[in-house]
Amino acid sequence: MKIAVLPGDGIGTEIVAEAVKVLNVLELPLEMETAPVGGAAYEVAGHPLPDATLKLAQQADAVLFGAVGDWKYDKLERALRPEQAILGLRKSLGLFANFRPAICYEQLTHASSLKPELVAGLDILIIRELTGDIYFGQPRGRRTAVDGHFPGSEEAFDTMRYSRPEIERIAHVAFQAARKRNKKVTSVDKANVLETFQFWKDVVTEVHAQYPDVELDHMYVDNAAMQLVKAPKKFDVVVTGNMFGDILSDEAAMLTGSIGMLPSASLDKNNKGLYEPSHGSAPDIAGKGIANPLATILSAAMMLKFSLNQPEAAARIESAVQSVLAQGLRTADIWSEGTRKVSTREMGEAVVAAIAADTGAT
Ligand code: IPM
Ligand code: MN
Repeated sequence: MKIAVLPGDGIGTEIVAEAVKVLNVLELPLEMETAPVGGAAYEVAGHPLPDATLKLAQQADAVLFGAVGDWKYDKLERALRPEQAILGLRKSLGLFANFRPAICYEQLTHASSLKPELVAGLDILIIRELTGDIYFGQPRGRRTAVDGHFPGSEEAFDTMRYSRPEIERIAHVAFQAARKRNKKVTSVDKANVLETFQFWKDVVTEVHAQYPDVELDHMYVDNAAMQLVKAPKKFDVVVTGNMFGDILSDEAAMLTGSIGMLPSASLDKNNKGLYEPSHGSAPDIAGKGIANPLATILSAAMMLKFSLNQPEAAARIESAVQSVLAQGLRTADIWSEGTRKVSTREMGEAVVAAIAADTGAT
């Protein structure tokens, strides 16, 4: 099984290094090859997603990704900015289904900004469509306005669009995921204003006819943002478009106490996927050895489960993570009184040790 390892920028290199250690201790036939991506690739190859990196990702069975981005590239033309690497990978690998679980770990209930009773036991899954919507819709650009409020002035525009097959396939993914959970899907839209999302709502409703055992409800995105902080446990699976999913998944992540805990998977139609932490490159703390590697380690577990058909190995990682949390080890982002603050490396090595110590008896 071949894994393309793309650490990227900022804390990406530090956290991916720990996930690689964890994969190595499992003694699986994994072949890992590393390549630069994002700003790191721009520095060495003049492009955030060099051909060699894209080719490696295409040939691999799965991609383990760190994070990309740094303010120092903000002045570059858009096509050369680090973020284009992840957008380009999603598009060229056809990774349309993005799974972003938001789970509140028992030991971290008090790290949430919400009251403990609102988040205790929280386990929701945001499924974000990842290759359509206003992120990729054409046309886009800048021009001189010919109409609108200020004709003759400079303007910028993007295009929000979804085709029927794009909505159908992500709806199927959501209903099938719900079947393995609490059988409830909330489709988030803005059908009261946007034609794209009236269409979204109509198509999701049609697909739902094939899943009578799953409950479906619809919610406007503004209300969904509110309900997520009011009563997050009412959700099970949330399915939504690319941009709303971007925003709501950050919000949901924060409910759990730390975005540093949350993995993600981006899958194509054959379950080949790219796995990355839900957080970004955090250039402000890069190189300090304080980043939380658990989101990336848990992303590696998702990779074993979804793309590499190794559910037992994935479960070993997940229970090792539970065990280090139970031991009271915390990186700075999840530290609280009475727990032990550890570095990125200490946390990774504690997970490795917990896996090695686990006899498989549990
Ligand atoms: C994410 C990120 C990306 C996105 C950026 C880095 C392009 O915010 O994965 O959520 O907007 O999709
Ligand atoms: Mn985002």
